[in-house]
Amino acid sequence: MQTTGHGHNRSSRIGGFHRKSPAERLDLVAAFADLDAATRAHLADMGNLLVPLADKLIENVVATMNVPIGIATNMKVDGEDVLVPMATEESSVVAAVCNAARQTYETGFTTSMSGTLMIAQVQAVNVPDPFAARLRLLERRDDIKAICDDCDPLLVKLGGGFRDIEVRILDTSSGPMLVSHLIVDTRDAMGANAVNTMAEKIAPHIATWSGGRVYLRILSNLADRRLARAHATWKLAEIGGTDVRDGILSAYHFAAADPYRAATHNKGIMNGVSAVVLATGNDTRAVEAGAHAYAARSGRYTSLTHYEVTASGDLSASIELPMAVGLIGGATKIHPTAQACLKILGVRTAERLARIIAAVGLAQNFSALKALATVGIQKGHMDLHAQNIAMMAGAVGDEVDAVARALVAKGTVRIDVAETVLAGLRGG
Ligand code: MEV
Repeated sequence: MQTTGHGHNRSSRIGGFHRKSPAERLDLVAAFADLDAATRAHLADMGNLLVPLADKLIENVVATMNVPIGIATNMKVDGEDVLVPMATEESSVVAAVCNAARQTYETGFTTSMSGTLMIAQVQAVNVPDPFAARLRLLERRDDIKAICDDCDPLLVKLGGGFRDIEVRILDTSSGPMLVSHLIVDTRDAMGANAVNTMAEKIAPHIATWSGGRVYLRILSNLADRRLARAHATWKLAEIGGTDVRDGILSAYHFAAADPYRAATHNKGIMNGVSAVVLATGNDTRAVEAGAHAYAARSGRYTSLTHYEVTASGDLSASIELPMAVGLIGGATKIHPTAQACLKILGVRTAERLARIIAAVGLAQNFSALKALATVGIQKGHMDLHAQNIAMMAGAVGDEVDAVARALVAKGTVRIDVAETVLAGLRGG
């Protein structure tokens, strides 16, 4: 019995797939999935990412996934105007940042950072005397520093390197675990490679000194020593009065009190954050994992932002979240689009990038709460959404706008309605 839409026997066991060229792999995939020539040609067009480069970034490459980059305007961060490239497939995200930033352009966003420290964890089990072992490891601080710094002399030369060790005793289902945290200043690197190398290098020593067995040696994405912070004030007159302000406050209180709402509230923040992280070739999942873990640090998942009323009655907003982004290493350095986006941002340090991203997250959240507390989110979404629906219904060229306008005017943005409108347009 057939279990897929494909009409012939197929095997996913393709020997030597990774050794083939992207074009050869695509041929195999096209045969496997019955892709027609047009679809195959579409996938083969990798746009402005050179095939040999794409083929180096990940394994088994056959194509690329293009996502639009929009520019957030009106952003002023620490007194400096900045244009922010955002890579996202979601409509309204870029417009939301532009709008929020426009409403606080006079003063802009003030930002700071707790540091550029990453944490690597080394897990030791079966340690006979964990409390004493913890102290034995702490006493080896200088030896540990020497071994870690020796892994990356360039990082040390640039002012980074090992900073400290912490040792925790965890009570787990398989007994006590001795978990060492290497705290490393990774400067302008995101730092995953640097700290993972150190963790692997130090692991055998930790096994010897602790008398236990080491298993995991890997960074923590809860980068709570790399917190990016941003705050801004939205003037009462700019945002439309006390009703709007109080609606936003109430939306924040809702998120602060309820994980169901906080998840959506923080998702909106990450709409902005991840778009800049992606545009600059950084690791969106690392930043997302860090943000959500940080939002749950009290034991209850809550809002990443805070809203308050200032002495003069304006709306004061702030955000603080882990921001493990870098300027060197990985796709950041070799992806030409990421390089171009960094150039547009004009950032020279990972810290500046992290701080701008925090400001974007705050702007995104302000816009979402303002829309939700007033006209609702669908109104702002409608125009672009209507265009998407028009294209899904088959509209091309000028038809897209015409169909979209008709859908918005009807107040019914649905594909069946779009098809009817389009048929009418073509018939007439
Ligand atoms: C949609 O992608 C994001 C929002 O749901 C965020 C929010 O509810 O705060 C609008």
